[in-house]
Amino acid sequence: MVSNSYIHIPFCKAKCNYCSFTSFPCVEKIPAYMFSLYKEISQNYKNEKLDTLYIGGGTPSIVPVNFIEKLIKKFGFTENYECTIEVNPDDVYSELISSYLNFGINRVSMGVQSFNDSILNSINRRHNSKSALKAIEIVNKSGINNLSIDLIYGLPDQSLDDFIKDINISVNLPITHISLYGLKIDENCYFALHPPENLPDDDLQADMYLAACSILESHGFYQYEISNFAKTNCHSKHNLNYWNNNTYYGFGVAAHGYCDGYRYYNTNSIDKYIQDPTVSEFAHFLSSQEKLQEEIFLGLRKTQGININNINNKYNIDFYKLYCNIIQKYTPEFLVLSDDYLKFTRKGFMLSNVILADFI
Ligand SMILES: C[S@@+](CC[C@H](N)C(=O)[O-])C[C@H]1O[C@@H](n2cnc3c(N)ncnc32)[C@H](O)[C@@H]1O
Ligand code: SF4
Repeated sequence: MVSNSYIHIPFCKAKCNYCSFTSFPCVEKIPAYMFSLYKEISQNYKNEKLDTLYIGGGTPSIVPVNFIEKLIKKFGFTENYECTIEVNPDDVYSELISSYLNFGINRVSMGVQSFNDSILNSINRRHNSKSALKAIEIVNKSGINNLSIDLIYGLPDQSLDDFIKDINISVNLPITHISLYGLKIDENCYFALHPPENLPDDDLQADMYLAACSILESHGFYQYEISNFAKTNCHSKHNLNYWNNNTYYGFGVAAHGYCDGYRYYNTNSIDKYIQDPTVSEFAHFLSSQEKLQEEIFLGLRKTQGININNINNKYNIDFYKLYCNIIQKYTPEFLVLSDDYLKFTRKGFMLSNVILADFI
């Protein structure tokens, strides 16, 4: 029984300089792509009622609304479902958000990235600070009150003060959720080919992260995951499902899913996908050891951490015995154990890649 689904919309008006997500500027392919998406869903979705549906990208907000309506109508939902769509500020107008609301969308995630115009310009965003603030107001006034924004820290020429300004602006907005991402420059993005000057170093990135965490917390945005902060009861149910290592469908080009013990991955090629959306490029049945590793890897992203008793029962292991070296090495500065939960400290979150690699 699968109750969560991700749908990938791989179109953007232009590529941001830092972005390596699967997205293309070929908007003329939207109709053909959407028909393939409907086909994949019709073939693989087993009509369970969904708790969460997440339409991400790319930029779902550049898809004409009639396609989005048809997409959502393919699914059934539970009573307290969460249905999120990602939008870019430059696409937002009130009729668009009202239509989303009518289709049953009840959460919006907006890629703001920064409120600093010269930084926005240097990363090739198509909006400025004023239009982002306007877009947030429009979403709120149009009746979708569950609104998340994404911000990036560690951007070229960004100072600690610049980022603190972004956070201080954010905490006073009518939003319920903030995702903070440290800039990552992966291969294939513009910045990988044209490395920017004046990138904040790791220490400055860490200072930005820590400063943001404490300002957010003092304004009622509680951290529940490495990069995510929410007002009370406004965490992303969809993303928590990933971190709890539960099943989900993944529909669309480059989407991945986790069903019946298999992790499966769709093709990255939009043309291949349009031609035949019904075959996954790769599927892997997880061994018990792999499942355990994923449970640790994903679960430790949450501030709550992982419940050792549950893991021992589920995998028939003695977690402490198996991982005592790692636990001793990192406790109490980076990892803490309390009430059967193992979790990162805030300092641990900043070193999480290294520590998780030890577990895996
Ligand atoms: C899947 S993207 C799509 C969101 C939407 N298209 C937008 O850009 O407004 C979700 C978020 O990931 C973050 N992101 C993308 N590439 C990143 C990178 N290289 N480093 C850090 N964060 C990144 C951005 O904050 C972005 O809003
Ligand atoms: S950050 Fe968002 S808008 Fe920019 S290229 Fe990536 S997916 Fe597209």
